[in-house]
Amino acid sequence: MIRRGTEADHPWIAQLATEVYRDLGDYGQVMPQWLVQPGVLAWLDDDAGLRRGFAVLAFYVDHGLHRTVADLLAIGVVPAHQRAGIGSALLGHVVAVVSAVGPAHGITDLRLTVAHTNLVGQRWYHKSGFRPVEGDHGLYANGQRAIRMARPLDPIPSAIAV
Ligand SMILES: CC(C)(COP(=O)(O)OP(=O)(O)OC[C@H]1O[C@@H](n2cnc3c(N)ncnc32)[C@H](O)[C@@H]1OP(=O)(O)O)[C@@H](O)C(=O)NCCC(=O)NCCS
Repeated sequence: MIRRGTEADHPWIAQLATEVYRDLGDYGQVMPQWLVQPGVLAWLDDDAGLRRGFAVLAFYVDHGLHRTVADLLAIGVVPAHQRAGIGSALLGHVVAVVSAVGPAHGITDLRLTVAHTNLVGQRWYHKSGFRPVEGDHGLYANGQRAIRMARPLDPIPSAIAV
C-alpha cells in the first residue's frame, strides 16, 4: 500500500536516497532538511511493514515564475524491489494528488529534475508523460546537469487519499 510518510520514516527515506542517488551527491545530508520544510510531503510503499520505496513532493512558490509549483524532489525504490511496478505506483499517486489539489492553487503541471546521466530515469519519466523543459536548470552537487521535465495534470480524479 501507499501511505503518507511520517517523521519516523525520515531516516529510512534519507538512507535509501543516499543509496539510490549516491552518484549525485550526499542525500543523507540534504534529504532530512527537505523533509521538514513546509509544503514537503512524502509517501511510502509499505508492504505490511516492509518499506520498499518513497516519493517526496514539494509545493512552493517559484519566485521566477511568480506562482506556486509542484516539484517531485525525489523518488526511489529499494534496489531489490525495482522493476516490480512500485516506482510507477508511487509516481501515479503523486500525479493524482497534485491533480486533485493543484488547480485550486494555480498549479498546472508536475515538474521534476533528473540528472543528464540518468537515461533510465529520463526514459521512465517520458513513459509517464513528462517532457523536457528548455533552459539552464543548474547542476547537482557532483556536477551532473539537471534536466527539468514536466507533465500536465490529469483531469480531477473522483477520490484520492492525500
Ligand atoms: C527509477 C525508479 C524510481 C523506478 O522505480 P521501479 O519501481 O524500478 O519502476 P517500475 O517497476 O514502476 O517501472 C519499471 C520501468 O522503469 C524502467 N526501469 C527501471 N529500472 C530500470 C533499469 N535498471 N534499466 C532499464 N529500465 C529500467 C523501465 O522502463 C521499466 O519497465 P520494464 O521493466 O517494463 O522495462 C527506480 O528504478 C529507482 O529508484 N532508481 C534509482 C533512483 C532514480 O533514478 N530515481 C528517479 C530519477 S530522479
